[in-house]
Amino acid sequence: MTDLKEAVITDVSLDGNGVASEDGKKIFIPFTLTGERVSYRAIKKKKKFDEAHLIEIIEPSAERVEAKCPSFTVCGGCATQHITPAMQLAFKEKSVLDTLQRIGQVSAEEVIPALTDKVWGYRRRARLGVKYVMKKDAVLVGFREKNAPYIVQMSSCEVLDPKIAGLIQPFAELIYQLSIRDKIPQLECSIAENATSVVMRVLETPSEADVELLHAFQQQQEIRLLLQPAGLKSIYPLDSLPVEPLYFTLQPFNLRLQFTATDFIQIHAGINNKMVVQALDWLQVTATDRVLDLFCGLGNFSLPLAQLANKVLGIEGDAALIQRAKNNATLNKLNNVQFKKEDLFKVNESNSWLAQQWDLVLIDPPRSGAKEVIDQLHLIAPKKVLYVSCHPASLARDANVLVNTLGYRMTRVCVINMFPHTGHVETMALFEKLD
Ligand SMILES: C[S@@+](CC[C@H](N)C(=O)[O-])C[C@H]1O[C@@H](n2cnc3c(N)ncnc32)[C@H](O)[C@@H]1O
Repeated sequence: MTDLKEAVITDVSLDGNGVASEDGKKIFIPFTLTGERVSYRAIKKKKKFDEAHLIEIIEPSAERVEAKCPSFTVCGGCATQHITPAMQLAFKEKSVLDTLQRIGQVSAEEVIPALTDKVWGYRRRARLGVKYVMKKDAVLVGFREKNAPYIVQMSSCEVLDPKIAGLIQPFAELIYQLSIRDKIPQLECSIAENATSVVMRVLETPSEADVELLHAFQQQQEIRLLLQPAGLKSIYPLDSLPVEPLYFTLQPFNLRLQFTATDFIQIHAGINNKMVVQALDWLQVTATDRVLDLFCGLGNFSLPLAQLANKVLGIEGDAALIQRAKNNATLNKLNNVQFKKEDLFKVNESNSWLAQQWDLVLIDPPRSGAKEVIDQLHLIAPKKVLYVSCHPASLARDANVLVNTLGYRMTRVCVINMFPHTGHVETMALFEKLD
C-alpha cells in the first residue's frame, strides 16, 4: 500500500476533484476543496498525474457543506454536493473561462453573472439503471456508481424531480415481483406538465400476471407506463387508450411544446425558461431578422424566435424531433418558421440554407460541438452567433475559429446552472461582427 501523504488543495476540476501537486506532478483528490489541507493515499499513478483516495480533511474550507444525499461519493450522478451552490458556480465559471483561454485562445469582453434557478429536485428527465442482484435477492433502481458499472443502492435522489425520485423505491418493489425481474435493464423517466411517463426496457415479454401488476402500479402511481422490447420504434404504451400528448410550457412566451417519452428536452424546466429569454435578449431579435436555429430539437428556441423575427429555419438531425417541431409550430399558430432534417456533422457548401441570407444564427449542439457548421459559417456571415454549449472544450475549439479566423468578437459569456451538483456545465456565448 502507498504512503499516507498530506497536501493543500489548490484548485477544483469540473468533475469535483480537488487538485494538489507533489514535486510538480498533479494529484486529483475527490471531494475536496480549494484551500483545504487533506491527507490522501495515491491509488493510480499515471505519467502526468496521480489519482488518490481522500483519507481525512485536516483543515476544512468554509465553503464545505454536508452533502444532502447519503449516496454522495458512491453515486456517479453528482460530483460536488460537498460545495456550496455559489462556490460550485464560481468553479464552473472559472473552468469555462480557463478552457476558453487555454483551448480557444479567446476571452469574453463581458462575463455575465450565471443564470440560476432551483438547485434541488430540478431534473425532469432521467435514465435509471435496473438490476436484479441475486446475492441480495433484491432489485436495485438508480444511477450507476462513480467509476463502476454497478447500480447504486438508493431509495431516493435529491436532484431528480420529486415525482421521479419518489418512484425509485416503488419501482424496485414492483420489478422484484415480476417474472421478468432480471430482464429489465432500464427505466427512462420524463416529466411533463400533464403526466409523468416511464419507458421500461424489457428484454423478455412480460407474463399476463406481470401485465396485471404493471397496470395496477401505473394506476396507483398515476404515471404512464410504456414498454420497450427493442429499439425506439418498438415502444408501446401499456394502455392502448388515446391520451393527450406530453407537453411543457415555455412560460415567458406562452408557448406549449409537445414531446414524446424519449425525446430530448432540456433537463431543468426553470433554467430552460430563463435560458431562452436570455438568448433572445442577447440576440436582440427584431421583426426584420432572418434567424437560423441549428440543432433545434423540437423547437425550444425556434418557436420563441419566430414570435419576434421575420422568419426562422430550424435544422436538426433527428427526423422525429423535426416532425415534433413542425407540429409544435402549427399548434402555436406560428407560420414564419420552417424545419429541416439534416446531419449537421456533414455540412458542406452544397447545403442550400448556406446560400440564403441569415442575420442571426443560434447554435445548440451536443457535447461534440459544431465544428462542421462553424467551418462553413463564412458563407452566411451573420451579424451575431449565439452559441449554447454543454461542453466547454468543444465550445472553446469552435470559439477559436469564430474569433481568431472569422473575426467575431466574443462579447458575452455566461454559465447556466442547468445541472447543479454535477460535473456538467452549460454555457451561453455571444459572438458579434461589429463594423
Ligand atoms: C443540446 S440538444 C438541443 C436541442 C434544442 N435546441 C433544445 O433546446 O431542446 C442537441 C440537439 O442536436 C441534435 N443533433 C445531434 N447530432 C446531430 C447531427 N449530427 N445533426 C443534427 N442535429 C444533431 C440532437 O438530436 C439534439 O436535438
